[in-house]
Amino acid sequence: MLSYPLSANAELRALEPWNAAEFAEFIERERDHLGPWLPWALRLTDEESTRAWLQSYADDQAGGGGRIYGIWMDGELVGGTLFRVFEPRFGSAEIGVWLGEAAQGRGLITSAAKRMIEWCIEDRKMNRIEWRCVPTNKRSIAVAMRLGMSRDGVLRGAFPLDGVNHDVEVWSLLASEWRAKTGQD
Ligand SMILES: CC(C)(COP(=O)(O)OP(=O)(O)OC[C@H]1O[C@@H](n2cnc3c(N)ncnc32)[C@H](O)[C@@H]1OP(=O)(O)O)[C@@H](O)C(=O)NCCC(=O)NCCS
Repeated sequence: MLSYPLSANAELRALEPWNAAEFAEFIERERDHLGPWLPWALRLTDEESTRAWLQSYADDQAGGGGRIYGIWMDGELVGGTLFRVFEPRFGSAEIGVWLGEAAQGRGLITSAAKRMIEWCIEDRKMNRIEWRCVPTNKRSIAVAMRLGMSRDGVLRGAFPLDGVNHDVEVWSLLASEWRAKTGQD
């Protein structure tokens, strides 16, 4: 996948170490918007730390594990997605997502996540796609619901962020549910 179209003017493609300067600028612009939900948005404060983080995903991907993508709209980096966990041995993967404030409300993440789920299930024969978020993240929960996920439960105090141990909601979609939803059964 060099590039996957999400809309007439937006695309999903690999976010790689050579994109570090662009990604660091994006984080700097959006830190107040992303920081309440994503620990890396507080931790990555310059090009060097951002490149190291992207390199860790590149290394993971080379080993068959997690991977990270960017979303570009009209040529500008406006968001991204990742497989934070990617475990073919167990048939499961976890998707994470983010958008700059102004790029919200266009369905970009729903369409990117659908493509990622389709790839996991159809190409990689995964059985379970997971989505984790804090209970107060209503926009994230709305995406999980839009994707047809079910709420498995809550991991109490499992997510330390900015000095607070937040609860984490776990949502998931199974391959059988995806196939029933897309009419492939
Ligand atoms: C979570 C987050 C990615 C959700 O972004 P989002 O824009 O709400 O999600 P989508 O891109 O799927 O867009 C859905 C919205 O676009 C609208 N939309 C327009 N066209 C659409 C389409 N073709 N398909 C689906 N939705 C569409 C939907 O109605 C919805 O709008 P609404 O919220 O006003 O009802 C974003 O709020 C974010 O980055 N937050 C900060 C970081 C974060 O919390 N990350 C997740 C941590 S768990």
